[in-house]
Formats: sequence, structure tokens, C-alpha cells
Amino acid sequence: MQQNQTQTQNIVILISGRGSNMEAIVKSWQHQMFPQNTKIAAVISNNADAAGLNFAKQHNIATEVLSHKNFASRQEYDQSLIKIIDKYTPKLVVLAGFMRILSPEFVQHYQQRLMNIHPSLLPSLTGLHTHKRAIESGLKIHGCTVHFVTAELDAGPIIIQGAVPVLPNDNEDILAARVLKIEHKIYSKAIQLFLQGKINANSDSNNQNADEFLIAF
Ligand code: GRF
Repeated sequence: MQQNQTQTQNIVILISGRGSNMEAIVKSWQHQMFPQNTKIAAVISNNADAAGLNFAKQHNIATEVLSHKNFASRQEYDQSLIKIIDKYTPKLVVLAGFMRILSPEFVQHYQQRLMNIHPSLLPSLTGLHTHKRAIESGLKIHGCTVHFVTAELDAGPIIIQGAVPVLPNDNEDILAARVLKIEHKIYSKAIQLFLQGKINANSDSNNQNADEFLIAF
């Protein structure tokens, strides 16, 4: 499927903290890794203190903060968040360390255009503390996964995975840093494939070139 090159493909990125994945994606955009009609339209956070917001501002990207603390329910928060995101008419919404569980209504609204990165080789190690659990389980290989988001947590169609070794003297921080470097590569690659029209939430990625879907170090 060829994209219409004249219509801007807006990306909205949601963060809660450091924002290093968002930074890597912005840099990939600046280095023209994405189709020419791509724009990172906004970076939105639920946390006014998210360090990543400063980076986005410095790079002239619109930023917005919507604190969840002012809302009585997840549904109300998510509806307000949808209104803010939709001002930017996103082709793709990217969850990059957005530390909130999303309501089914939110996921449904962005069905097939919502991506997440998870720090494990899914479907292993869903949930939190993945690096600690990888070490405790004695895994020799660990990694990260970019996937489309569906209603079930960490369970949507896998787009790309990146693998790293777990080494004998690793602690949680060392292993997290090794995985994070790969996260920064595979998230941009997944976004590139999506914006090029090479993948969608229904396609079977395994039918395509395996080099594009697994990065191993
Ligand atoms: C990453 O490890 C990502 O996999 C997880 O949250 C962390 C976010 O880091 N979902 P950053 O904010 O992108 O630096």
C-alpha cells in the first residue's frame, strides 16, 4: 500500500518521564528515516515534570500536559486525552514510556494506529520489572518488543523485536541499559515500516524480510 505523499502523516508521542525513546524517534525523524510527509506533531505527558518535555520544546515540537490527578476516573481522563491527541490528527500514536493503563475505549479509538514498546521479548515477561525477572529466571537472552496495542496488556501483534545477551555479572541497571540501546533502534524502525505502509496491525510480518523484524546483538 503506497501512502499519499501529499498528506502529512502526523505522529503523536505520549511519555511520562525520561523520554529517551521519544528522543531517539525525534532524531530518526530529523535524520529523515521516515517518509518525507511525516511530522512529529506533539509530545504529550500525564506528568508535568517529565524530563522529555524539555527536549521536545527545544526541538520546536508542540507539548501538552494532562495530569491524571485532576480526573475522577480512567475513562474521563482518557476521553480528555483523546480530545487533545485528536487536535493533531495522528496517523500514529506512539506510547514511549507512558506509564498508564489505557481504557478499552482509548485503545479502540486508536485501533491499528497505536504502538507500544515493552522491555522484554514478548510474550515472555509481560508487566513490570522485566529486567530483574529476566536475571532471576536465568535467561540467557532478553530484549524488547514493539507491538500494536490491543485491549489485552502487552499482547497486541508484534512488529519488531531486539535481542541482547544476559551476561553473568549483569544487574538490573546494566541489563536495562543494554536493552534500552536496542529499544532506540527498533522503535524508529517499526515506525518507519508503518509509515511506509509496509506493515499494519493485520499483516503477517513473518511473510516479509526477517532482517527487518529482528535485531540481534
Ligand atoms: C522503556 O524501557 C520502555 O521500554 C518502557 O518504559 C521505558 C521508557 O523509557 N515502556 P524512556 O522514557 O523512553 O527513556
